[in-house]
Amino acid sequence: MAKKKLDKKNKEKTEPKQGTKLWGGRFSEATDRLTEELNASIGFDIRLLSHDIKGSVAHASGLERAGILTPKEREKIEKGLKSVEEDILSGRFVPTIADEDIHMAVEGRLTSKIGSLGGKLHTARSRNDQVALDTRLFLREETTKVIKLLKELQKTLCQVSEKNIDVIMPGYTHLQRAQPILFAHHMLAYQEMIKRDRERFTETLKRIDVMPLGSGALAGSPYNIDRRYVAKLLGFKKISTNSMDAVASRDVLLEFLSNSAILMINLSRLSEELVLWNSEEFGFIELSDAFTTGSSIMPQKKNPDIAELTRGKSGRVTGNLVTLLMVMKALPLAYNKDMQEDKEPLFDSVDTIKACLQILSPMLKKMKVKKKQMRKATEEGFLMATDAADYLVASGLPFRQAHEAIGKTVAFAAKNNKNLSDLSLKEWQGFSKYFKADILEVITPEASINSRTLTGGTAFKSVKSELSKAKQELRKKP
Ligand code: ARG
Repeated sequence: MAKKKLDKKNKEKTEPKQGTKLWGGRFSEATDRLTEELNASIGFDIRLLSHDIKGSVAHASGLERAGILTPKEREKIEKGLKSVEEDILSGRFVPTIADEDIHMAVEGRLTSKIGSLGGKLHTARSRNDQVALDTRLFLREETTKVIKLLKELQKTLCQVSEKNIDVIMPGYTHLQRAQPILFAHHMLAYQEMIKRDRERFTETLKRIDVMPLGSGALAGSPYNIDRRYVAKLLGFKKISTNSMDAVASRDVLLEFLSNSAILMINLSRLSEELVLWNSEEFGFIELSDAFTTGSSIMPQKKNPDIAELTRGKSGRVTGNLVTLLMVMKALPLAYNKDMQEDKEPLFDSVDTIKACLQILSPMLKKMKVKKKQMRKATEEGFLMATDAADYLVASGLPFRQAHEAIGKTVAFAAKNNKNLSDLSLKEWQGFSKYFKADILEVITPEASINSRTLTGGTAFKSVKSELSKAKQELRKKP
């Protein structure tokens, strides 16, 4: 090759111009356009901008402490990083797919602003530990928000229970009326589920709170970086202890996605009940206008879209978990580009669960609970049949025989279009000699409810006590 040509080539390699890849040293051909498109994650990881900047600022301090950067250089880099952030936020700099990802977009812009010093920032670091760091910073912030929203929802469920503490409704099994319960008991069942959801996210937060930076591409770093110092700057409790694990694992993300899927499945059940209860057929609640929408053709309609959408969105959140499980399956250690596919499902689940949680609390607070209709439904449909059987058991009859006798009583009442409370004492005694006048007191919804005083039962006393325990727990910080 002619000397002139060679000189030109070397110059290009040592001083990359704008538009050349940061990793371009080894390459002599331009990247194929479609490769560039498929390879780029900037379209979505731009969302990690503030975390990438924060991570790089801390990394620069780590480099200074290790003597790789002078204090002046560190300061210049830090200022440069902050102005890159502003450039992107204000739209002064719009990264393109040629920048590939957020890490290279920031570094490229930094170098174009502060010159070759920008190129020192990536010392002792790889995009592999950098992306792992950014994702953890992002997830730590978002998980903290989710935990707050879950607590909010628990509080709402307690408030709704307290406000309607005297409301009696049918409890269901197989979606058939089964036994009377307090509406508060039903709401507090969801409070328990959401409490466990919150516990799961809180537990995951501990595992998110581990700093991977300093793991390099996979094998660790030969530079004398004080990892604990950097971790402290970023507020991490722990540092990772195996560099390969730190760059190759996404199980903490899977945990978050799994928690999110379980949460959404719980919310889908609550939503389904709201849809049913809000229907004309049930008529147990009325959702406020603010959280329902109309039909473009049927003027009478008031649709429970928010509850329906929450129910529906449980599908995509579950899908996001499955997506990342499948991405990670059988991937050899350590980093593989497949793992770039972790972000979109993660972002989507974060956004979806937050959106649903934010809207559920005000919707529940504003729903009208129709006490009379619920009570009426409790009186119809033989809900106190088990109580009548228990009455016979108290008189000494084995439960199976009692069950049989009440089965016959119910069949008789149904045939004659009566409720159990319409039967005369004589009619009762036709099915068992053990029935006395007080049977009529036993088969009221109140008596049925208040007989279930074991811990966890629907007795007014038990529900009140569980409610006050829940409220007390919710007062605790955080
Ligand atoms: N955009 C990449 C991702 O999200 C960053 C890490 C790239 N690492 C690499 N060796 N190409 O996973």
